[in-house]
Amino acid sequence: MENKLREIRERVLAELSEARGTSKLEQIRVSVLGKKGELTGLLRGMGQLAPEERPRMGQLVNDVRRAIEEELEKKGAELKEIEKNARLEAEAVDVTLPGPERSAGSMHPMNIALNRMVEIFTGMGYEVVEGPEVEYDHYNFELLNIPKNHPARDAQDTFYINENTVLRTHTSPVQARIMTTRKPPIRVICPGRVYRADEADATHSPVFHQMEGLVIDENITMADLKGTLDEFARQMYGEGISTRFRPSFFPFTEPSAEVDLTCANCHGAGCRMCKGTGWIEVLGAGMVNPHVLEMCGIDPKKYSGFAFGFGVERVALLRYNIPNLRYLYENDLRFLTQYR
Ligand code: DAH
Repeated sequence: MENKLREIRERVLAELSEARGTSKLEQIRVSVLGKKGELTGLLRGMGQLAPEERPRMGQLVNDVRRAIEEELEKKGAELKEIEKNARLEAEAVDVTLPGPERSAGSMHPMNIALNRMVEIFTGMGYEVVEGPEVEYDHYNFELLNIPKNHPARDAQDTFYINENTVLRTHTSPVQARIMTTRKPPIRVICPGRVYRADEADATHSPVFHQMEGLVIDENITMADLKGTLDEFARQMYGEGISTRFRPSFFPFTEPSAEVDLTCANCHGAGCRMCKGTGWIEVLGAGMVNPHVLEMCGIDPKKYSGFAFGFGVERVALLRYNIPNLRYLYENDLRFLTQYR
């Protein structure tokens, strides 16, 4: 039995010193000290020894057990430390790595263009004013010299709320509101949403944006209008871009013009965007009709003024060479986030 004990002691201590993980230690512990373990078995067999042998053998078994337990504890602490360090290393966080990128969103190209327009005109001393999108017929039509049954009403497929109320078909009613409430000098721009019962296609949408401009003072002439719009074109699209006035008709201006900008895509050479003409129509403009001034309470003998109305989407399409209005409204982020 003594030999057996020595053998166990040496073998187990050797096994322990070679053990590579806490689970292996546990396995050894159970096989030696567990209920069915080797040493436990020996202790049980003590009954068969001669009574005088028992104390010494008991003592020996206990020595071996203590030696093994001590080693188990020492080795266990060592292995735990090693395993903890390995785990810490595996879970290590590199605080110097860049964080996940967060998208801050981007401006809609239409709004980028509109903001730039506002910036250019406020830079020339204009004030931004707004009016309601649900508008009285009175401001949307009557005060702009478009009486009931006037053919110009047909050209603006109007959404009627009731007999006297419409979704504004243009931003021009804001002019009328300003003229009826302020005295000259007046220098305002009026950006906003407008509505027309149009089918959506490459160049039409039932909701779109306009920016109205209105200047009224003494001695305002068409040359002021032309100079203002040329300066706008230069600032918006760069040197070499100017305006071309074509005679036109609007009930609220006299004379009236449709205004084209040099095609920013081909700089006037002619391309697909401008259908070979070198020009793109972007706004309507003219000298405020004296009759409109009068209806709005401004003396046309003393004052004159000009007005213009931009299609904001058109300005944006032209600025970014976007071929189809639908791109602005489909909300495909892959498209929209290209613009800064
Ligand atoms: N209101 C016109 C439209 O919607 C555009 C326009 C033309 C506005 C001439 C003006 C102007 O202020 O003077 O088509």
